[in-house]
Amino acid sequence: MNTTLANKNVVVIGGTSGIGLAVAKLIAQRGANLTIVSRSVERLEKAAKEIGGNVQIGTIDTLDENSVKEFFANRNDIDHLLNFAGDSMGGGVMDTDISQARNAMESKFWGQFYVGRYGGVKIKSGGSLTFTGGSGPRPHQAIATVAANAGVSLLVESLAKELAPVRVNVVSPYYVDTPMWSGMVDAERKALFDNVAKQLPIGRIAKIEDVAPTFLHVFESTYLNGVDIPVNGGAVLQTIE
Ligand SMILES: NC(=O)c1ccc[n+]([C@@H]2O[C@H](COP(=O)([O-])OP(=O)(O)OC[C@H]3O[C@@H](n4cnc5c(N)ncnc54)[C@H](OP(=O)(O)O)[C@@H]3O)[C@@H](O)[C@H]2O)c1
Repeated sequence: MNTTLANKNVVVIGGTSGIGLAVAKLIAQRGANLTIVSRSVERLEKAAKEIGGNVQIGTIDTLDENSVKEFFANRNDIDHLLNFAGDSMGGGVMDTDISQARNAMESKFWGQFYVGRYGGVKIKSGGSLTFTGGSGPRPHQAIATVAANAGVSLLVESLAKELAPVRVNVVSPYYVDTPMWSGMVDAERKALFDNVAKQLPIGRIAKIEDVAPTFLHVFESTYLNGVDIPVNGGAVLQTIE
């Protein structure tokens, strides 16, 4: 067993589903004292059972500043903090639903801002804070998400200075097949994934296990700081043929 995280306190916000759950499992396998946190106690209990071992749970809603403040109020012992909570949206400036666009900014940018502000100061010297962003082409199909992710990229630069010597980074996937997409009708989701896949040099969208190890690598890399790491199968590469 790899025990590189033995006796380390690691908190994973959004550790009940998708990428966050996969990363939480990898962290547990390395012997950490793991706490998973999200909005739903039911989902937390289910995920804790799936991860196995002695996993702690906690509740938080990153859309709510007071909830984030309260969660971190009594925690002073965090070695590594990761945040996966974040909603998405679709559409450009002209055709997007404005409340959905605002929600994307609230959850992806402001949610991580609150986590940085109230959680970042609770991380021990030598520890790390890792956010989740997004990368790839900058499409007009999800403008508020793209704008929020650009903001998070700058947020980590500021926090890496403000929280020093704690390291602060963001990992930015492109399309990943996770439960986040489960609200779509199967045929529509498949059509979307196929359309994206054929435009990627790698020929397919990411599976969860393609991106989860990158998060581990980023927070365990003791000299990586203030950067935005894309993990997108070469989505921004263009060829002219
Ligand atoms: N999947 C993709 O294609 C993709 C691409 C690029 C970036 N990302 C980003 O990757 C991250 C993880 O996405 P995923 O696809 O793994 O999603 P997912 O399977 O839907 O998981 C989201 C997790 O976040 C928690 N969560 C959501 N809103 C929350 C809130 N307001 N407060 C606290 N916890 C909250 C959820 O738990 P509860 O419901 O119990 O609260 C769940 O554990 C997101 O930031 C997403 O934007 C995803």
